[in-house]
Amino acid sequence: MCGIVGYIGDRPAAGLLLEGLKRLEYRGYDSSGVALLDDRITCYKRVGRIANLAGIVPHGLTQTVGIAHTRWATHGGVSDANAHPHLSRNKKFAIVHNGIIENYIYLKNMLAKAGFAFSSQTDSEVIAHLLEKNYEESQTHDFEEAFNTTLRMLEGTYGLVAMSADHPDCLMVARKGSPLVLGIGSNEMFVASDVSAFLGHTDSVVYLDDYEIAKVTSSSFQTKDFRNEPTEKAVSKIEWQPDSLDLNGFPHYMLKEIFEQPESIERGFAGRIVETMGTTKLGGLNLTPAELFNIKRVCIIACGTSYHAGLVGAYIIEELARIPTRVEVASEYKSKNPIIEAGTLYFAVSQSGETIDTLLSMREIQRKGGKVLGICNVVGSTIPRESDGGVYVHSGPEIAVASTKAFTSQLIVLTLFAVMMARMKDMSLNTGKRLISDIKKIPECIRNILGHAAHIESIAGKLKDAKYFMFLGRGISYPVALEGALKLKEVSYILSEGIPAGEIKHGPIALIDKTTPVIFIIPKDDQFDKTLSNMQEVRSRGGIIITIHTECPADSADYDKLKSLSDYMICVPAIDPSLTPLLTIIPLQLLSYYIARDRGCDIDKPRNLAKSVTVE
Ligand code: AGP
Repeated sequence: MCGIVGYIGDRPAAGLLLEGLKRLEYRGYDSSGVALLDDRITCYKRVGRIANLAGIVPHGLTQTVGIAHTRWATHGGVSDANAHPHLSRNKKFAIVHNGIIENYIYLKNMLAKAGFAFSSQTDSEVIAHLLEKNYEESQTHDFEEAFNTTLRMLEGTYGLVAMSADHPDCLMVARKGSPLVLGIGSNEMFVASDVSAFLGHTDSVVYLDDYEIAKVTSSSFQTKDFRNEPTEKAVSKIEWQPDSLDLNGFPHYMLKEIFEQPESIERGFAGRIVETMGTTKLGGLNLTPAELFNIKRVCIIACGTSYHAGLVGAYIIEELARIPTRVEVASEYKSKNPIIEAGTLYFAVSQSGETIDTLLSMREIQRKGGKVLGICNVVGSTIPRESDGGVYVHSGPEIAVASTKAFTSQLIVLTLFAVMMARMKDMSLNTGKRLISDIKKIPECIRNILGHAAHIESIAGKLKDAKYFMFLGRGISYPVALEGALKLKEVSYILSEGIPAGEIKHGPIALIDKTTPVIFIIPKDDQFDKTLSNMQEVRSRGGIIITIHTECPADSADYDKLKSLSDYMICVPAIDPSLTPLLTIIPLQLLSYYIARDRGCDIDKPRNLAKSVTVE
């Protein structure tokens, strides 16, 4: 999970590369570097954030060709030497790499025997030396030929950009398992891990596929496959607006993205609701009504927050459409020789569309004849381009490593699918219309919750020093508990667990004492009374109870019961029980954010994490 940027054009490259790295910093932020080319290669590398690198790159540099990289360490510790770009022995080649070279030890030994010395502990450095070796040993001294020869020697995955001091008119690019896109400008070209690196400089993009090579000059690009056959590439338009990457006055992207959810959810269901029929339409599924009718099972594959969205989606699909639905952790699923069943519709849910575990699971299902639809956010990313169809969630660029608006957008799409399937089965027109009406209320309900952020902020201030949090929920609120725990742990580094509320008696309740914040997600649904009993069990053991509940009259018996058992209460608007996760998750996102802020954590770039996990 690193960030790569390349530039070749008629403008000074240094500033453009540093700007691109800043925008890709969420992909990895251990260290970074830039290599610039005029008649020779000049390289600057630094550990830490991009600002550290920017501090050592002189102003006013005029080179118009360069490559840059922000690193999430896989092989080799975090050090200046291990930062990319890596140079060849003769300093005439530089490369930046995202991925893992699995045969690097063999290659390193072969190069060492040939007299090459290494300045880093990384696997990537072997690529730079191989380029030099293959170039010098070829009769033609052809950069492209040496590049292709080098690729044939590599085993593993890469998004790779190389430049040669003897060939300043082009960059060589290759993609195998790690994303790379080309930004097509006027007298300039960009290469990057994703479009955010050059957003605002061009809205024309070419998405490279695995096993593709590109030769990029300032005014052209040529693509070939690994058999050296030319490939045809479409130039697409980027839908994201340049200012969508700005913080717009927020202190962190995470908070901005939490507050963007009313609008991102509106975008998620825009044009997808058929009110008169009390149903929805999802054009990208590429399935006829007859094919949809014959779906007997659904299987959702995902990781992390997207997995939690899948768990909520499974409850909704089973509740509304009565279709058996299971959810699989992609990292486990891809390796278990999965049984692919006829009549099963598979969904790959992924914000980035690049998560390698989810991608490999999708490929395994497809290899065995299964049909996989993508539910993704990043347009043109690998999963949507390799899937058999799918739906973009349109939540806009999600920069913070902690996923928030993408989660609720994924829920919206899964809910739209559930309603569509339900209305093809037994759901009545009136029930469909009522659900659609509730779905359309969600943005305003979230605005209502966000309007009480100060209340949640004050609770966070009281809980920020706790050493362990327990999140509890039943039924559809259980995945919300999982997601709330993940949010807190990944941005505040506090040990947090999401547990089915009914499970605490089977062990976890032993963890509770008077210092333990226990967060109950307890909407008014058919699990309310049982969850209330769990609250009493926790109360009697002295836990600090925080209650996320749906609106109920202040003079009602339910409210009195909740109030008598709670230390803190957070209310969300009442809504159809199938839709409550879209609301109950919002206070948990805010609570995590404020606790992390009060603990001085690096909220948008938590330690050890990266936004898109493109290595296994
Ligand atoms: C969520 O906050 C985390 N950043 C992480 O769990 C993430 O959801 C997971 O890596 C899956 O990413 P994806 O949705 O891009 O596939």
